[in-house]
Amino acid sequence: MRIILLSWLFFITFSTNFFGIPMILVSGQCQSDQQSLLLQLKNSLLFNSTLSVRLVRWNQSTDCCTWSGVDCDMAGRVIGLDLSKESIYGGVDDSTGLFALQHLRSLNLASNLFDEAQIPSRLANLTNLTYLNLSHAGFVGQIPIEISSLTRLVTLDLSCSFTARLQLENPNLKVLVQNFSELRELYLDRVIISGHGNEWCQALSSSLPNLQVLSLSYCSLSGPIHSSLADLQSLSVIRLDANDLSSPVPEFLADFPSLTILSLAICGLHGKLPENIFKVSTLETLDLSFNFLLNGSLPNFPQNNSLRTLVLSNTKLWGTLPYSIGNLKSLSKLDLGDCNFTGPLPISIGILTQLKYVDLSYNHFTGPLPPSMGNLTQLEYLKLTFNNFSGPLPPSMGNLTRLEHLDLLLNHFIGPLPLSMGYLTQLEHLALSSNHFTGPLPPSMGYLTQLEHVDLSSNHFTGPLLLSMGNLTQLEHLDLSWNSFTGPLPPSMGNLTQLEYLKLTFNNFSGPLPPSMGNLTQLEYVDLSFNNFSGFIPFFSYVQISQPFKPLFKLFNWWDLVH
Ligand SMILES: *[C@@H]1O[C@H](CO)[C@@H](O)[C@H](O)[C@H]1NC(C)=O
Ligand SMILES: *[C@@H]1O[C@H](CO)[C@@H](O)[C@H](O)[C@H]1NC(C)=O
Ligand SMILES: *[C@@H]1O[C@H](CO)[C@@H](O)[C@H](O)[C@H]1NC(C)=O
Ligand SMILES: *[C@@H]1O[C@H](CO)[C@@H](O)[C@H](O)[C@H]1NC(C)=O
Ligand SMILES: *[C@@H]1O[C@H](CO)[C@@H](O)[C@H](O)[C@H]1NC(C)=O
Ligand SMILES: *[C@@H]1O[C@H](CO)[C@@H](O)[C@H](O)[C@H]1NC(C)=O
Ligand SMILES: *[C@@H]1O[C@H](CO)[C@@H](O)[C@H](O)[C@H]1NC(C)=O
Ligand SMILES: *[C@@H]1O[C@H](CO)[C@@H](O)[C@H](O)[C@H]1NC(C)=O
Ligand SMILES: *[C@@H]1O[C@H](CO)[C@@H](O)[C@H](O)[C@H]1NC(C)=O
Ligand SMILES: *[C@@H]1O[C@H](CO)[C@@H](O)[C@H](O)[C@H]1NC(C)=O
Ligand SMILES: *[C@@H]1O[C@H](CO)[C@@H](O)[C@H](O)[C@H]1NC(C)=O
Ligand SMILES: *[C@@H]1O[C@H](CO)[C@@H](O)[C@H](O)[C@H]1NC(C)=O
Repeated sequence: MRIILLSWLFFITFSTNFFGIPMILVSGQCQSDQQSLLLQLKNSLLFNSTLSVRLVRWNQSTDCCTWSGVDCDMAGRVIGLDLSKESIYGGVDDSTGLFALQHLRSLNLASNLFDEAQIPSRLANLTNLTYLNLSHAGFVGQIPIEISSLTRLVTLDLSCSFTARLQLENPNLKVLVQNFSELRELYLDRVIISGHGNEWCQALSSSLPNLQVLSLSYCSLSGPIHSSLADLQSLSVIRLDANDLSSPVPEFLADFPSLTILSLAICGLHGKLPENIFKVSTLETLDLSFNFLLNGSLPNFPQNNSLRTLVLSNTKLWGTLPYSIGNLKSLSKLDLGDCNFTGPLPISIGILTQLKYVDLSYNHFTGPLPPSMGNLTQLEYLKLTFNNFSGPLPPSMGNLTRLEHLDLLLNHFIGPLPLSMGYLTQLEHLALSSNHFTGPLPPSMGYLTQLEHVDLSSNHFTGPLLLSMGNLTQLEHLDLSWNSFTGPLPPSMGNLTQLEYLKLTFNNFSGPLPPSMGNLTQLEYVDLSFNNFSGFIPFFSYVQISQPFKPLFKLFNWWDLVH
């Protein structure tokens, strides 16, 4: 749009000088051959006109430089074409106007449905391309050698999906990139490349001196990462997830001066994690998860750092969280699940006020949650399953008003739930099972109206369920089993019309079930056994008559019900 405005201004000025009077231009700037090539392209492509937002609106009676997805230069030549996500299917005809759009610098056909078609080798005709994006377009098979003659490319994205995979055998990676001296961004995720570490690393390092982004995840590459990669000093993003590197994490990865993303998940990395990696002050994302043999512990984190995402789950990392974790002031995601970490959560966690996602599950953490947790007001996800956390929940938890997912399963928490729980009004998932919580549920639970999944089983909760339960109208899963709840169920239970799973076994609930429970027509699993309920079962009417085929589990304790 900017270019078009400029070209209009240019033309108006020119016209004014030439004729001496201002003129208002009505005709467009698009060169007519360009327009007819685009129309030829549109006519040759198969696309779903219901889902297309650009192609479908290309209209002969308007200037093609104003068409959505089309960019022109000052002279009205098409230099950019973005037809991504246009539901284009079938193949690309050789005769299509596309390959005659000689001036194209940028071409995006990503996220289409070129069903099992090969990448057209005629693309090589577009010698001025600097940006080529064919990612997730549905192309399959060998990447044609002709692509390698597009020597002006700055960005190449050929990443594909597992169901439609490209491959680089002949030409291989080395031949493909050998003349790409301008290339800065290379995305080949899920392309079948193969090759030993020294091969693919040297192919890249010998040809791509300006490379900044290297994204080769799921490419069947082998390791180890060869030291020649260190020559690519401009590298800022390295994503090599899910390649079988079977080696230690190379120390030299810490030497890239502008590294921002390092993602080496599921790579079979082993040995000791080099601590230097945490000293890279530019690093924003570090993901080394699912390297099951990666050993080592967390260093003292330096003050000067940019880490936002730290994912080290499913490794052998061990030791305590250092107090200096409080230096990671930009941290938004911390995932240390399924490692061997021990010790308490340092009070300095409260400094990390940008945290949105914390998973410390399946470790050996101990001690109480520090009250400073209440500082984490951005937190949306907190999972502490299967640790040895203990003590009561600090009332400051009520400050985590954005929390959607709270999972404290299988720990040693004690005491009643703090009244401040009622402030967690965004909570959808609450799992407190298998702890030592006591006392009645706070009446403020009635404010948690977004709750869909509640598991409070295997604790020592007491008292009756309150009327405010009826506020939880989104509830689908409710498990209160193995507690000491008493009294009858409140009539407001009939409000929980989304309920599919209800398990109340091993409590001291009593009395008749409220007739309003006849409204719970979504119930698929009900277990009320080992209580003192009496009287009729109100939901039998719909179960047996109106919805006879619903897969309903019935695990009632008939003794309790009939006497
Ligand atoms: C186009 O997309 C719509 C909406 O998804 C779908 O209903 C229709 O069947 C599609 N048409 C073709 C020809 O695929
Ligand atoms: C093209 O635009 C003209 C004028 O805006 C309009 O009358 C015509 O219906 C449009 N044609 C299509 C195919 O959208
Ligand atoms: C390829 O480019 C040449 C000009 O370099 C042009 O004459 C020719 O028509 C183009 N080929 C196709 C198939 O469009
Ligand atoms: C290709 O780009 C160069 C330099 O940007 C330019 O001089 C040349 O005219 C362009 N070629 C075409 C066919 O647009
Ligand atoms: C390629 O296009 C897709 C879809 O528009 C986009 O998500 C992706 O970021 C693009 N890749 C690059 C490298 O720009
Ligand atoms: C790369 O460039 C060299 C020299 O310009 C040329 O001989 C070679 O054929 C080119 N390779 C490819 C794959 O285009
Ligand atoms: C991890 O390293 C520590 C100390 O270097 C060593 O004692 C331990 O055996 C290692 N664990 C594994 C699983 O390699
Ligand atoms: C809470 O965060 C503020 C900065 O937002 C910080 O100054 C304070 O020390 C933090 N409190 C605790 C208990 O960590
Ligand atoms: C909880 O929030 C209140 C008000 O926003 C604040 O004064 C208090 O310090 C917070 N508590 C903690 C432990 O961060
Ligand atoms: C139910 O929730 C509303 C706000 O969503 C609140 O005003 C009301 O007091 C709640 N009722 C109970 C019994 O908690
Ligand atoms: C039942 O739900 C409605 C909102 O759907 C609410 O207004 C009402 O207070 C609830 N009843 C009880 C007893 O909580
Ligand atoms: C819920 O059940 C009660 C008692 O059986 C009944 O009066 C009420 O109409 C039912 N409400 C709905 C929405 O079905």
